Amino acid sequence: MTTDETRSHGHILVVDDNRMNRIKLARMLEQQGHEVAVVENGRLALAMLGERPFDVVLLDLLMPEMDGYAVLREIKANADWRDIVVIVISALDEMDNIVRCIQMGAEDFLPKPFDPVLLKARLDTSLEKKKLRDLEKVYLQQEVRLRQSEKLATLGRLSAGVAHELNNPAAAAQRSASYLLTAIGRLQKAQLGLDMYGLSSAQEAQLTSLLQRAAEQAAQPLNLDSLTRSDRQDEIEAWLEAQQVTDCWEYAPELVAMGYDETALRRLEATFGRAQLSAVVAWISATYALFALAQEISEATGRISEIVKALKSYSYMDQAPTQQVDIHEGLDGTLAILRHKLKNGVEVVRDYGSDVPRLDAYGSELNQVWTNLIDNAIDAMSGQGQLKLQTWREGDWVVVAVTDNGPGIPEEIQAKIFDPFFTTKPPGQGTGLGLNLSYNIVVQKHNGRFTVNSQPGETRFEVRLPVGGNR
Ligand SMILES: Nc1ncnc2c1ncn2[C@@H]1O[C@H](COP(=O)(O)OP(=O)(O)O)[C@@H](O)[C@H]1O
Ligand SMILES: [Mg+2]
Repeated sequence: MTTDETRSHGHILVVDDNRMNRIKLARMLEQQGHEVAVVENGRLALAMLGERPFDVVLLDLLMPEMDGYAVLREIKANADWRDIVVIVISALDEMDNIVRCIQMGAEDFLPKPFDPVLLKARLDTSLEKKKLRDLEKVYLQQEVRLRQSEKLATLGRLSAGVAHELNNPAAAAQRSASYLLTAIGRLQKAQLGLDMYGLSSAQEAQLTSLLQRAAEQAAQPLNLDSLTRSDRQDEIEAWLEAQQVTDCWEYAPELVAMGYDETALRRLEATFGRAQLSAVVAWISATYALFALAQEISEATGRISEIVKALKSYSYMDQAPTQQVDIHEGLDGTLAILRHKLKNGVEVVRDYGSDVPRLDAYGSELNQVWTNLIDNAIDAMSGQGQLKLQTWREGDWVVVAVTDNGPGIPEEIQAKIFDPFFTTKPPGQGTGLGLNLSYNIVVQKHNGRFTVNSQPGETRFEVRLPVGGNR
């Protein structure tokens, strides 16, 4: 067997009701190095196709039970069999039948009586075609997998960022909660200390107003620089120490945060007397600590809820695939999700048109587009620069423009950036699928348009989406 024959070796099914034809064809094919199966009618042919893969079917047309047309129709209607090459066996005077079969998807015809040279020529061509189709199929499957992995990679990058964003407030809330436990103990001890003295009604009124002040002050902490803060702490500690207040270093930070200075402390001493000063100061500082810590927990958990809300809105969680989409919400949601990449030096300028209507669209897919464009812009600017998001209405279109002041896209690659797998980034950082995916979402899924305009210092991507849901 020559190499050439090995290369064109294939699995071939012969379907013919004429026994002599079957024997002749099978012998010729086997001599040419193919694997051959023979059956005598259409029904058996389909059964055989279901059992194992074939590259080529040699199909007789006139057969009892189920004729060749019916077999051909079944083959072309079946996604698994569609790529099998069908060669119709037919006498030359049956040209009408051959034409009909070609229209139905047959590849070629084999005239009777059979000629081994012609048979070989037709089969070689057919097998080559089949091989290309198989390759194409493998390639398409790979591409689908890669696209999926680009989506996952985007998702991975996003969740890494979001995890980081969530981690800070979560850690802050946890820290404050554990301090809160200590502060509760301190307050109870201070309360006992105060109770020992039995307070006058004036003193009780004074404590109530101090309580009020602690709550208010905790909600709006004083913004002191660290030098002023430590000066004031020193001042307070020194004064308290002079009044024989014990553990005064423990109370000073909170007293400073509440805005106390020596004058205010003197007034406190005047109201409560030297003997009770220790207990009052301990009480004030523990009370303030309690409010301040509760405040911190509330802010941190509030931030966590905000992030979760942004995530929910970004992913259109619990929503139908298409909805009346607010483009501005989508852009803002994307900015919130990408906050970790923006906060170290990207100035975001938002210029949203007030006449931009909601669009009947795939919200979560559009967010992928915004994510890719913003992600690319941040990459291009190496995390430092200006990112501009603009929207406006232009007749029957809504336009979204994403502009960065990075180095621009070199002219010679501008035509390629929408191609799948085109990237200028090192492996691991770029897949080259972001713009291709975005293009398909905008142009194919939404009947929109996607353009780019770039020069050094300004790169601008514009997405146009039809207002009337032209889909
Ligand atoms: N805003 C931009 N500025 C400069 N170059 C860009 C910009 N956006 C995209 N590109 C270029 O287009 C290429 C393809 O982008 P994309 O399809 O998103 O793939 P990836 O980001 O994975 O490389 C990028 O590698 C980059 O060279
Ligand atoms: Mg990209």
